[in-house]
Amino acid sequence: MTTYKASETRYNTMSYRRCGNSGLLLPELSLGLWHNFGAVDNYENAKQIVHTAFDNGITHFDLANNYGPPPGSAEETFGKLLQEGLSVYRDEMIISTKAGYLMWPGPYGEWGSKKYLVASLDLSLKRMGLDYVDIFYSHRPDPNTPLEETMAALDLIVRQGKALYVGISSYSAEETKKATALLKAMGTPCLIHQPRYNMMDRWVEGGLLDVLEAEGVGCIPFSPLEQGILSSKYLNGIPDDSRAAKDTGYLQRDQVTSKKIAQAIQLNTIAEKRGQSLAQMAVAWLLKDARVTSVLVGVSSEQQLLDNLGALHNKAFDDNELEHIESILKS
Ligand SMILES: NC(=O)c1ccc[n+]([C@@H]2O[C@H](COP(=O)([O-])OP(=O)(O)OC[C@H]3O[C@@H](n4cnc5c(N)ncnc54)[C@H](OP(=O)(O)O)[C@@H]3O)[C@@H](O)[C@H]2O)c1
Repeated sequence: MTTYKASETRYNTMSYRRCGNSGLLLPELSLGLWHNFGAVDNYENAKQIVHTAFDNGITHFDLANNYGPPPGSAEETFGKLLQEGLSVYRDEMIISTKAGYLMWPGPYGEWGSKKYLVASLDLSLKRMGLDYVDIFYSHRPDPNTPLEETMAALDLIVRQGKALYVGISSYSAEETKKATALLKAMGTPCLIHQPRYNMMDRWVEGGLLDVLEAEGVGCIPFSPLEQGILSSKYLNGIPDDSRAAKDTGYLQRDQVTSKKIAQAIQLNTIAEKRGQSLAQMAVAWLLKDARVTSVLVGVSSEQQLLDNLGALHNKAFDDNELEHIESILKS
């Protein structure tokens, strides 16, 4: 068994933001295990990324029942990392998981019923070898299950001691208002919302961010780099080692559109003037809003993680830069 010893300097540079009105602080950068941590991926690479993250003050690791491939295997990878040394630091870590997407056949293997959410979390805990997760999410709204039932399942899970906090992901502003009211009435406040949000995908600005602020709920944007398009990765075409080129990646080649690349090329010139990489500017751009608690990046290498951490050195934008960015994104 490898013995991992965390860096003594892990808390020297990271800043932590309060998650909504809660007692919980989250690092400005968090690590997601959606891609690159499955059974199909290189375990040593996964280990290096997670250790480097923790060594740099990234205390929050985000998983879901279906991350892999195959589904469930990212949780198994994380469980193995815990077993091989990381678990010594369990009380310094915020581990989240989710249920909502398809996990097993039949009527109880996806969406938002109490039956599915409770069974799924039990399986996630087994895969990770944990007694509890810190945050459990309803991964997506279920149009066919009463919201009361889904929120009651989250409340039950906290009362059972299987999660400390609960969150919701990809709920609209309207659904979020209803969900937070239901949770509040049960005495289990909604800690956090995990929406898709980046310079190119702005739906949360149409009401959700205002609801989160009013309700005292934190916000952790996912796919902050538009799955890699908001980095230097695709500026000269689709490289073989990219998510868009891989069979197992969720980014399809046709999503890397010429319009997005033209925008990324122009954004990259602003980033260069700021002395940042485009990925760093994309992370910093999200953190300029105080309603954003943490930015949830994915990475395929330690190098990318270190690059993204560099964003935290320059988070300020002047009005000219912001206007220039907006004009590029509207073009
Ligand atoms: N709640 C939900 O429904 C939901 C949905 C999606 C994701 N998430 C969460 O959000 C996390 C992040 O999502 P995401 O992986 O789509 O985020 P992302 O940060 O937008 O994209 C990550 C990809 O961008 C590339 N990249 C990252 N840093 C880079 C850098 N410095 N330079 C060049 N390329 C870089 C890598 O692509 P290559 O692999 O090509 O190198 C990496 O795999 C997930 O892991 C998951 O935890 C949640």
